[in-house]
Amino acid sequence: MANVKVIFGSTTGTTESAAAEIAAAFGVQAINVANATADDFKADLLILGSSTWGLGELQDDWAAKIGLLENADLNGMLVAVFGLGDQSGFADTYCDAMGILAKTAKGRGANLIGQTSAEGYGHSSSAAAEDGMFCGLALDDNNESEKTSSRIGAWVENLKSRLG
Ligand SMILES: Cc1cc2nc3c(=O)[nH]c(=O)nc-3n(C[C@H](O)[C@H](O)[C@H](O)COP(=O)(O)O)c2cc1C
Repeated sequence: MANVKVIFGSTTGTTESAAAEIAAAFGVQAINVANATADDFKADLLILGSSTWGLGELQDDWAAKIGLLENADLNGMLVAVFGLGDQSGFADTYCDAMGILAKTAKGRGANLIGQTSAEGYGHSSSAAAEDGMFCGLALDDNNESEKTSSRIGAWVENLKSRLG
């Protein structure tokens, strides 16, 4: 059985709910980054999730603990990211925090998987998107909460197929 870890930061609970759903699909409990330790960043598949706050910033608990990710040895490790944001209220910084997590993880040698198409989203700019693709799973419970579960379901299937 592969060792899967899901680590999230959440201020009002939407990222926490998504993390719980993702973790349940792998039969594990999600870990709040506020309580995370360096050991939590060792896995066969590491899944990291953050909402975006301010204008394109990491969620507060992630901001406080980003050193754990900056110092993690992720060489060759499968890593996937997800983010919660508001594509209409914050159309220029939609899910930027997910982009920060992805960039930091890649800088530590991660093999980033779980990219998704940005088609059908209404944002105008995102640090998490490039050439029509998000670096991970972009969720929006402010405007499209009805799509969250199906988006998670499809994404998890894709990640499972990569785990073998
Ligand atoms: C003050 C404030 C700033 C926000 N800034 C952004 C932003 O820059 N980009 C974005 O995509 N969403 C932004 N959001 C939306 C949140 O990311 C969204 O509500 C998210 O679901 C919150 O998740 P959480 O409760 O798990 O922290 C902002 C929300 C608030 C209230």
